[in-house]
Amino acid sequence: MEIARTLASLRDVCATLRTARGALALVPTMGALHAGHMALVQAAIDSGAAVVTSIFVNPLQFGANEDLSRYPRDEAGDLAMLRAAGCDLVWMPDVATMYPAAAVTTIDVAGPSELWEGVSRPGHFRGVATVCAKLFGQVRPDRAYFGEKDWQQLQVVTRMVTDLHLPLQIVGVPTVREADGLALSSRNRFLTTEEQRVAPRLHQALTACAQAMAQGTQAAAALAQATSKLTASNFHVDYLALVDGPSMRPLDAVQANARLVVAAHLGAVRLIDNIAAAREQ
Ligand code: PAJ
Repeated sequence: MEIARTLASLRDVCATLRTARGALALVPTMGALHAGHMALVQAAIDSGAAVVTSIFVNPLQFGANEDLSRYPRDEAGDLAMLRAAGCDLVWMPDVATMYPAAAVTTIDVAGPSELWEGVSRPGHFRGVATVCAKLFGQVRPDRAYFGEKDWQQLQVVTRMVTDLHLPLQIVGVPTVREADGLALSSRNRFLTTEEQRVAPRLHQALTACAQAMAQGTQAAAALAQATSKLTASNFHVDYLALVDGPSMRPLDAVQANARLVVAAHLGAVRLIDNIAAAREQ
């Protein structure tokens, strides 16, 4: 497995891999890798392409009140996991390489970035879209893999690639969960033992809500019931909504491609999750 820390060595190794293997697949990450990230790497490997995983904790997507310095980092552990999985190249730029002092271009995707995380984390999707556009320009992958765990992010990146006619395909990968339903996240390590016991109720609330709607309960009533169950379990619900999957616009009733999305604080940890609310067509 190769490791590139400069643009020059990235270009060299990417050129060699592209010639040898025909296609490149990119898995963008911020490191602190777990089985959720590794499902993306595996999907990329299974596609037959040479696999490039980027590890870059992107300052531009963190808000002023979000602790960038507290973001978990484990370079040695990450590299060991990627090597074992069969990743071909790890791209680990520093902040000055990604954001040279002269850089003044950012990307704002309207539409799917406006609500939910876009309201709770102003500027977050500008940071995500900008860094993803840079990664796509640096690596020039044929495909890039993103987790459904961050559903809205997946929609924002897909919209950007479509709107800017970027020459790659975005592939979504289903959320990897603990046996109890909790979506894997690098933030889960900050949950106390008691919070770990309660955290799976977030996914349980989503599935109960989807089931209630499937059995005929009005969406508004099902959402209200799920919110009060979560509040009773000490979650502070930021939003819980039924949305149109691609556009992220709120829906009054289940339809094709409907998605339930949630963000809630449990103690000091902010958890997000989502599930399909209708059978996808
Ligand atoms: P990060 O949080 O490190 O996540 C990297 C990728 O792993 C994202 O596409 C995310 O959706 C996916 N992922 C995380 N947990 C997952 C799980 N339990 N199941 C499936 N996929 C999961 O998301 C980011 O980094 C950044 O915003 C990034 C896209 C790298 C841009 O900086």
